[in-house]
Amino acid sequence: MSTTTNTNTNTNTTTATTATRGQGQSIDLAGKIGLIDGHWQPRVVAEMNDYQFKVVKVLGAFEWHRHAATDETFIVLEGALCIALRGPGYAQGHAIVLTAGQMAVVPRGIEHKPCATVETKLLLIEPRGVVNTGDGDAGGRTVQNDQWI
Ligand code: NI
Repeated sequence: MSTTTNTNTNTNTTTATTATRGQGQSIDLAGKIGLIDGHWQPRVVAEMNDYQFKVVKVLGAFEWHRHAATDETFIVLEGALCIALRGPGYAQGHAIVLTAGQMAVVPRGIEHKPCATVETKLLLIEPRGVVNTGDGDAGGRTVQNDQWI
């Protein structure tokens, strides 16, 4: 796994300042993504209350996973993202395709499998503490949470 310079080491919410939470400043999402090495490596750029904004670039297929306790928002900044969904209320093979400027919310508890056939840049919105692989270590692809860039 690649390493990324972390300029925001203070992520303890009891002591974090608004500046270290990415607040009160302009955040260049493309510039932040440009600092990330590798795919499927989400990095936090800001917080709003208990929610975090994470940027990530993806390519290829991720693992099926679910988040039992929370919904998860995907916003496509560049490229195209497919999200396969399975669970109650979804027909077999159901999938969403998002292009730049489009978004989707994956409901809590619903299994999802993101994939991209071209390198795709995303903004994710989810509560602080959500792990990329959800309730399990899907395929050994869990990334340390709460890494800032
Ligand atoms: Ni997820």
